[in-house]
This record gives sequence, structure tokens and C-alpha cells, in this order.
Amino acid sequence: MDPRVALLFLLPLCPGLAAAATSCPRNVNITGGTFTLSHGWAPGSLLTYSCPQGSYPSPAARLCKSNGQWWTLGSTPSYGRHAKATCRPVRCPAPVSFENGVYSPRLGAHPVGGNLSFECDSGFTLRGSAVRRCRPNGVWDGETAVCDDRAGHCPNPGISVGAVRMGSRFRFGDKVRYSCSSGLVLTGSAERECRGSGVWSGTEPVCRRPYSYDFPEDVAPALGTSLSHLLGATNPTQRKDENVGRRIQIQRSGHLNLYLLLDASQSVSEEDFRIFKESASFMVDRIFSFEINVSVAVITFASEPKVIIPIPSDMSWDVTEVIDSLENANYKDHENGTGTNIYKALHSVYIMMNNQMARLGMETMAWQEIRHAIILLTDGKSNMGGSPKPAVDNIKDVLNIQQDRNDYLDIYAIGVGGLDVDWRELNELASKKDGEKHAFKLPDAAALRQVFEHMLDVSRLTATICGVGNMSANASDQERAPWHVTIKPRSQETCRGALISDQWVLTAAHCFHQAEDRSLWRVIVGDPSSRWGKEFLIEKEVIHPGFNVSAKKNQGILEFYGDDIALLKLAQRVPMSTHARPICLPCTMEANIALRKSPGSTCRDHEADLLSPQSIPAHFVALNGSKLSVHLKTGTERARCIEVVAQDKKTFPNLMDVGQVVTDQFLCSGMEGDANPCKGESGGAVFRERRFRYFQVGLVSWGLYNPCHGAPDKNVRRKAPRGVPTPRDFHMNLFRLQPWLRQHLEGVLNFLPL
Ligand SMILES: *[C@@H]1O[C@H](CO)[C@@H](O)[C@H](O)[C@H]1NC(C)=O
Ligand SMILES: *[C@@H]1O[C@H](CO)[C@@H](O)[C@H](O)[C@H]1NC(C)=O
Ligand SMILES: *[C@@H]1O[C@H](CO)[C@@H](O)[C@H](O)[C@H]1NC(C)=O
Ligand SMILES: *[C@@H]1O[C@H](CO)[C@@H](O)[C@H](O)[C@H]1NC(C)=O
Ligand SMILES: *[C@@H]1O[C@H](CO)[C@@H](O)[C@H](O)[C@H]1NC(C)=O
Ligand SMILES: *[C@@H]1O[C@H](CO)[C@@H](O)[C@H](O)[C@H]1NC(C)=O
Ligand SMILES: *[C@@H]1O[C@H](CO)[C@@H](O)[C@H](O)[C@H]1NC(C)=O
Ligand SMILES: *[C@@H]1O[C@H](CO)[C@@H](O)[C@H](O)[C@H]1NC(C)=O
Ligand SMILES: [Mg+2]
Repeated sequence: MDPRVALLFLLPLCPGLAAAATSCPRNVNITGGTFTLSHGWAPGSLLTYSCPQGSYPSPAARLCKSNGQWWTLGSTPSYGRHAKATCRPVRCPAPVSFENGVYSPRLGAHPVGGNLSFECDSGFTLRGSAVRRCRPNGVWDGETAVCDDRAGHCPNPGISVGAVRMGSRFRFGDKVRYSCSSGLVLTGSAERECRGSGVWSGTEPVCRRPYSYDFPEDVAPALGTSLSHLLGATNPTQRKDENVGRRIQIQRSGHLNLYLLLDASQSVSEEDFRIFKESASFMVDRIFSFEINVSVAVITFASEPKVIIPIPSDMSWDVTEVIDSLENANYKDHENGTGTNIYKALHSVYIMMNNQMARLGMETMAWQEIRHAIILLTDGKSNMGGSPKPAVDNIKDVLNIQQDRNDYLDIYAIGVGGLDVDWRELNELASKKDGEKHAFKLPDAAALRQVFEHMLDVSRLTATICGVGNMSANASDQERAPWHVTIKPRSQETCRGALISDQWVLTAAHCFHQAEDRSLWRVIVGDPSSRWGKEFLIEKEVIHPGFNVSAKKNQGILEFYGDDIALLKLAQRVPMSTHARPICLPCTMEANIALRKSPGSTCRDHEADLLSPQSIPAHFVALNGSKLSVHLKTGTERARCIEVVAQDKKTFPNLMDVGQVVTDQFLCSGMEGDANPCKGESGGAVFRERRFRYFQVGLVSWGLYNPCHGAPDKNVRRKAPRGVPTPRDFHMNLFRLQPWLRQHLEGVLNFLPL
């Protein structure tokens, strides 16, 4: 055991128990950075330094001891007079050894932004990246460059930057061993063996600086096939394809047991624990949003584990229960035993597995088909109970993880936040699989969210699961709203619409004119300005028979938009992808599942859920693809919203009752700084987000002001000039058009009782 680790455990157990009078000195400023304190200046408080990107704090943290002195944590823990904390520039390690080729430049360490180029001797081909760049996290981009002559049974496993390798034969059964040069820690497998299949056991070793961390975009692709198998129906014995399957491929079969283990020990501050809880909640919420069979166990641990939700239990199926209990998980539950016993925490997982196996029967498919993922959110600093390895071995035993069942278990060790992670320990705990990575350190909870967005790959999900948008920071507008389509009823003018199944589009009736040649109408699915945009012919159109702009002309209403709704049936089914997927239509079974409501729910329940209270945040898609925000008004707020229609004397001379124009069919927006839809945006969905799923509650119909009129381009909206009429926008309320929708979509969607 690392002596530092043993010492940590002897430190004061909690701030409250420590001598009250002393407090630690305040001369702890860091040059160029900032710091946080877990309990102010009181004994027991953990001081964590942070620095801007491209630099790291040295030391990383300090602990206020009961004698009123700071204890410096880091590679050489010490008391007393400490050097001033500083932010130091991040460096990437230099190669120690490179076979069958040359590299340049030859420096001792490389600055952020520096390049490293590799070239192979003749007779060898280069695999991996010929040029690598040092990134702000102290990690080289790209992949290890290897000069291979392909003479071995296994490919040359290479020597990652900063490592040395022992063993240079790559025949079946040969072993290679790695170590890192001083100041670097090895993550991945220190020893690998050439297997019969021509694949090396374990995972590539990487030598890292202790302070280095991961960027979300690196983590997702490195998370393995195994996790994709966890959620998928793919045959786990099938050979892995290097290019696919490195992500969770969402499919609606298969069963996943997800064990979340949250470290609440002394070395993890209460703030870090809060980040763990938040990250875990997000993870759970997101995984449940895909309608797959998941059971979640929640365990917090320090000296002792506390099982908050066991598997199996009724709670473990219920996303609300799981999230509630994560929110309520209390750091203080572990105040009387603040050591770190990862062995015991994993042992409690083993016990659960054992019980479930006993219940289901060892030989049954029900048991054998369950996949298991253990996610440890921790700094990895185990200091009690000995090595966690025996617990992992027991788990592997009970799951019968032999060669061909390797995919049934994944152990991820993830450090999130400013905490001082012990890479060695994190690496010890994590699974090691070829081409995959299971130990990570991420800068913050937001980074972990991004990891999940990247990990989840619905591109191969062929089922028409509704209302799934991509929330990745890098997703395109179309990926964020994949239901959004463009309709070209006539040559110049366009409307928008929404896919509500793989073949039907919902849009506005006023986009169409009786007189024109309908064979010219087209629907563009996907972003029309990219190669993902595809034109579809229309097989059939259903325009609401009640729609007639001049219906109320003789009452002084020059334009009337009642029943402004239409359905288009496309000539072909749209293949589902991240660019094309339907939105959820309320009052359907599909939406009911997505809303995570009980099977007996009604249309009225959906309305109560999606259209209350009085001011409802919702969105529509602008001409340039951006998502803009509005607030839909109900109740008395609605009355205030619609009354200004009477000011429009041009369109509505002598209007006595605004209800004649704005009937119950309309939702109103345009107050509170709402965006106003433009003319070409008619027919597009007005939608709400609920737990990572999207629901269409309305469709853009008409308004008193067109902000795109006279605007220089698609990215600009003109502010409404002062005066009358005040801008307002009206959207068809889909809850008021149920009979008509049901009449035409029966058999396309499964409707709930009204
Ligand atoms: C530490 O920095 C803060 C703000 O930068 C300053 O107000 C404070 O006086 C400094 N304290 C010491 C002990 O240098
Ligand atoms: C590294 O290579 C990139 C791309 O070739 C180049 O833009 C950059 O300036 C190089 N950096 C250095 C420090 O030479
Ligand atoms: C988003 O894309 C940019 C540019 O391609 C890249 O630098 C960045 O790392 C990406 N971020 C994520 C979270 O994928
Ligand atoms: C989830 O699992 C339960 C019981 O194992 C099963 O009855 C149900 O059909 C599964 N649901 C899905 C969507 O696979
Ligand atoms: C810790 O111990 C104290 C004193 O025995 C007790 O009052 C408290 O409830 C304990 N806390 C927990 C979370 O068990
Ligand atoms: C979201 O988009 C990103 C970037 O295009 C992609 O890598 C990721 O797989 C997508 N995720 C989903 C859930 O579609
Ligand atoms: C629309 O309403 C007007 C006024 O009631 C009527 O004259 C006209 O025939 C209607 N048009 C259609 C297509 O029904
Ligand atoms: C798209 O247009 C809206 C105004 O219609 C504007 O607010 C937004 O910034 C634009 N988006 C981009 C990416 O330019
Ligand atoms: Mg600890």
C-alpha cells in the first residue's frame, strides 16, 4: 500500500469531531489559479486548487489538520512550511523508445500544442498516427505510431509514448511487459499476451502524467463494445469489428444491471460527492430515456458500503425512484467511518449478484443473459479492506466470465471533478479489454454528460423510437431536432413540418392551395443544405376539411386559421437515423412510454402533464435550424395573450370577440421576450422537452408580426417596432384536434383513450 494512503486514513474523521479552537492559516493563495475549501478554514477541510486549461496546480490539494496545519497532498505529502502553490504548464511525455523508425523532435517533455512526427524504416508500414499533437490535458492526440512488418501472429503491439517494452516476439503465447518512465503512471495493461485469435490480451498501456485528465470526446469512442452489447442484442461471441460497436448501440432488447458505486469517503469532498450524484443521476436518466430494460443498484461507500437500492428490487426498475434516491443520498451517512473500503463496496455487489443468481437459477437464460456494468465514481484511493481484487475475482466467478463471456461484465472507474485521482488505483479496478478503456478522469460533471451523449449511438437504431434528439454539444441542428422537415408545396414558398412516424408528416393546412399541381409537392427529410437531406414524394395528403381562410369574412374577419392542420403520407418510409426520426405525438402509447407514464394513462393525463401550468416553455425550429424558445399560455394568461388581436384593425375591423379569431384550437405565445416564428416556419412543430425526449404539443400557424420580413438573412430577426399590433403567435393545439388525428392516423400510431 502507498504510505500516503495509510496516513490519510489516520486524519481527523470529520470536521465536527476535530478540536474546535484551531483553524488553518489563510496564506494558501495559488499563483494564476483558484481554490475551494470543503469546510472553510476549520480542521478537516479539504482545499482543492484549480488552474486554467493548459496548466495544472502543484500541489493539487491540502488538508487542514486538527493541529491547525496544512497537510499537503500530492506525490510527496508533507507538513509545515510549504512552497507556494502555483499553476504549472502542462507537458506531454516524450517517447523513450521507438522501434523500426525515427521520431522528431527529441525533447525531454513537450509543450501543449507541440507536434511529434514518426517515420518508419523501409520495409515497415506505419500504423497509428504519423503526427501527434500535445493537447491541453497533457495527452497526445491520435494513436500510438507503430512500425510493423506484420511478421508475427499478433500485430506489433507498439510502445506507447513514455513507455518501455520488454519482449519483442509476437508469436502465439508470447508475452510483452511494459513500464513507464519516472514521473508517469501506467494505465491499461502492464502485461499482454498474444492470443490464438491474433489479438493481444488486455488493453494498451498508456503512460500518463498524474495530473492529466480526459476530454469527453476521447472517452466515448474508447468505451467498449461490451457496453454496447450490454444494451444490445448483438451476439457477444461475434468477432468485434474495429469500426463499429465501440459505443452503446441502443436496442430495445437485452437486460442490463447497472451498479452505481459512489465514493463518500474523506478523500472525496462533499462537493465532489455532489458531482458524483449529479453525474450518476444524469447517466441513469439518459439510459432510461431509451426504453431499454435496465435495473440500477445504488451504493454509497466509505469505510462501509450502504446499499440504497439493491438489485433486484421494484425500485431498481423505476427511474424516478432511482433518481430520487440518488438525490437524497447523503454524504453524512458515512460520517462515522470515512475510510475507503472499495473491497467491501464491490463485495456488496457480488452478494447482490449471488442472490439474483440463486433466485433465477444458475443455468437459466434469464440469469445468463443479463449483462452487468459496475460504475465506480471515485478517486480510487482505497485505504481499508485490502486490495479490491478478490471481490472482482468473486464477481467474475459468479458471472462465469471466461473468455467468451467477457462481454457480460464491465467495470468502469471514473474520477470526476477537481479531486486528486490516484491513476494507479483507478487503473487497477477498471476492466481491461482490447481496444477499450475503462478508467477515466474527467474535469467536471458537464464532461461526463458529454461522454454519455457521445457514447449513446442511436444511429443504428432502426425502430421508430419517437422524440429522441441528439444533445451532444457537437450535434448539428438537424440531429437535435431530427423530426424537422421542409415542405415545398410551391416553387418559391416553403413550410415546415414534423415527422410523426416513419411515413407521416404533420404540417399546416394553409401551406397548400387547392388549385396547384400536387404532383410537384416535395418533403425534404434531414437538413436540406447537407448531404443528409433527402427528397420524398407525397403519396397522399389529408388537409383538414374545415380549413377555410375566408370562412368568417362576412363577420369582418378577413383571415381565419381554424383547423389549420394537414397530414402528408410520404411515398416511401423514411429510414431512421440520427438525422431523421419522428417526434412523439401526445396521447399515443409511444409518447406514454417516452413520458414514462403508467400504461393506464389517458390523453387528458398527457395534456395535464405537457400543457400546464399557465406559462409553458416550448420551442420551435427557426429557418436556419436553431431552436428558439416561446412560452405557451394557458388559463388567465392565455386571455391576456390573445386580447391584443383586437388591435389589428386591418385584418380584423370591428372585432367584437377575439374568441372568434383565436378559437380554443389555438395556443398563444409572444409575451415574455418570446421569439416570434417567421412566415416560412409555418407547419413546424411547437414542442417540449421532457427527460431527454421531445413531444409535439402544437404546430406553428399564424401571427401578428413577421420578424423575417425585411431581415437581411436567415440568421436575423427584426425586432417588432413599437406600437400596435403587439406581436403574438398562434399555434394549433394538438390536444384540441384529437378526433381528426385519430381518424387519419389509426393504425399508424397507437392512441390512448381520451
Ligand atoms: C489571496 O488572494 C486574494 C484575492 O486574490 C486576496 O484578497 C488575498 O489578500 C490574498 N491572500 C494572501 C494571504 O495573499
Ligand atoms: C503542429 O502541426 C499543426 C498542423 O500541421 C500546425 O498547425 C502547428 O503549427 C504545429 N505546431 C508546432 C508547434 O509546430
Ligand atoms: C466538438 O467539435 C470541436 C471541433 O470539431 C472539437 O474541438 C471538440 O472537442 C468537440 N467537442 C465535443 C464535446 O465533442
Ligand atoms: C424487460 O424485462 C421484462 C422482464 O424481464 C420483460 O417482461 C419485458 O418484456 C422486457 N421489456 C423489454 C422492452 O424488453
Ligand atoms: C455517528 O455517530 C454518532 C454518535 O454515536 C451518532 O449520533 C450518529 O447518528 C452517527 N451517524 C451515522 C450516520 O450513523
Ligand atoms: C450525437 O452526435 C454526435 C456528433 O455528431 C455523435 O458522435 C453521437 O453518436 C450522436 N449521439 C446520438 C445519441 O445520436
Ligand atoms: C369558404 O367560406 C366561404 C364563406 O363562408 C364560402 O363562400 C366558401 O365557399 C368556402 N370555401 C370552401 C372551399 O369551402
Ligand atoms: C438563427 O436565426 C436566429 C434568428 O432567427 C438567430 O437568433 C440565431 O442566432 C441564428 N443561429 C445561427 C447559428 O446563426
Ligand atoms: Mg477515499
